[in-house]
Amino acid sequence: MERLKTNALSKSYGGTHALKDISMDIIAGEVHALCGENGAGKSTLIKILSGVERPDTGKVHWRDAPLPLGKVDAIEAHGVVAVHQEPVIFPHLNAVDNLFVGREHAMACGIWLNQASMRKQTQNILATLGEALSVTEPVGEMSLAQRQMVSMARALIHQCRILILDEPTASLSARESASLFGRINVLKEQGVGILYVSHRLEEVFKLADRVTVLRDGASVGTWAIKDLNRDTLIKHMVGREVPVAPPTSSPNVKPTKQPVIEVSALCRKGAFNDISFHIQPGEILGMSGLVGAGRSEIARALFGVDRFDSGNILYGGRTWTSLTIQDAIAHGIAMVPEDRQLQGLVLPLSVETNLLLPSLANHECFRGLDQGTMRSTAGDLVTQLGIKTESPSKPAESLSGGNQQKIVIGKWLHTHPTLLILDEPTRGVDVGAKSEVHRIIQALAAKGTAILLISSELPEILSLSDRIMVLCGGCNQGILSRQEATQEILLRRSLPTDSGRDI
Ligand SMILES: Nc1ncnc2c1ncn2[C@@H]1O[C@H](COP(=O)(O)OP(=O)(O)OP(=O)(O)O)[C@@H](O)[C@H]1O
Ligand SMILES: [Mg+2]
Repeated sequence: MERLKTNALSKSYGGTHALKDISMDIIAGEVHALCGENGAGKSTLIKILSGVERPDTGKVHWRDAPLPLGKVDAIEAHGVVAVHQEPVIFPHLNAVDNLFVGREHAMACGIWLNQASMRKQTQNILATLGEALSVTEPVGEMSLAQRQMVSMARALIHQCRILILDEPTASLSARESASLFGRINVLKEQGVGILYVSHRLEEVFKLADRVTVLRDGASVGTWAIKDLNRDTLIKHMVGREVPVAPPTSSPNVKPTKQPVIEVSALCRKGAFNDISFHIQPGEILGMSGLVGAGRSEIARALFGVDRFDSGNILYGGRTWTSLTIQDAIAHGIAMVPEDRQLQGLVLPLSVETNLLLPSLANHECFRGLDQGTMRSTAGDLVTQLGIKTESPSKPAESLSGGNQQKIVIGKWLHTHPTLLILDEPTRGVDVGAKSEVHRIIQALAAKGTAILLISSELPEILSLSDRIMVLCGGCNQGILSRQEATQEILLRRSLPTDSGRDI
């Protein structure tokens, strides 16, 4: 039987045992899910299987022959291909170049790839993923989800026998995820073995044949999916029973109050058109829509990252027709951005410094900083969010993806913003920390913070929001109350209609 088999893989980073003695296999034609809390070692295992990292000890066999460890190209040439958690792409190149760069071996096989055929192939593969992306735009200018699609296409364009996906749907909405699942099922029927990492357990139950659970770098076991249910899987992941109750929103809205923010007819050509809404103190306004619907672009305009062409924002007793990030921060607006590595963290700085950055800005320097209080604030956040780090003084880049995300959220939680914009706040966050983040969001709302919540997870949007605005093609498709909204209505409204909308 064709399979990829690991034998006693171990890997340490300094004092962290990221992987301990992992033996498992991925069989042709199966979807094998890899589950575990943030920092459990999933990405480390994937980096070893794909050649990005070398194990300290242990071996990997493919079709009973040793795989050349630590060599990405050689491993890809064997048909073992990975799509990593943080998409590895060349930002200044377009989608076509990103797909074919470094793949010159295709030419060596006698297939001459000219620009036109490469472009055609790129378009075809993106179409099977359900994405109509520009193939000429530099990838660096695309949204995180679109970049993830490009890196997925890069893996799929070449014949692979083992496909490894590290949280591929973390920033995709339901529609794009469904196209991806369709694609995965086709590959599975063709006999491709798939290793699939996701914190969304419903996906694991929908897709997987078998599940391996990692905890603190060690394997807890491998099960057939039919022998598990949600509760037993969570129990294996965290090592104890955790009642993960879905969040329920309490009505914090005080309709008599002045809105915190009132947005009127906001436009930015090519991104969004005629957007109007308001948010009351203590209210959570959800923003739903497909990738590329304009949600992040609106958030960025409200936070002063991008300009807008027309319309205005009534905020802090002033009507703004343009604003800068400095204006936004000075007036109590905070934002957790979609792309943590580019916008949310200073990777080489410590966990502690990253957590305290927003409040450093709030302190007057000449008054000096109260080191003791700051240190304990950071310590409290690390404990509260369960941020897994050897020490708060370690650089943020040494943390796992989900733990980095916890820092990005955590750093705003101890400030008291008037308006908090959250763009996919629980992307890649494990099941326990997710409910903690939900609890904190609700606590902030209860204290009067107005919250704009962008999320591609419909259950998250539905359970936390007081009202939900749906966007499609940069246009507002209406704002629903929590009582009116259902998954079906949100999905239906987020799909483009035949009439087409030009911005
Ligand atoms: N380059 C590195 N330097 C130091 N420590 C690292 C490095 N990469 C990973 N680690 C540590 O190894 C452990 C496992 O990390 P890994 O990224 O494999 O977790 P994960 O299961 O993928 O988590 P997540 O769900 O958050 O993505 C973590 O404790 C992490 O801090
Ligand atoms: Mg990871």
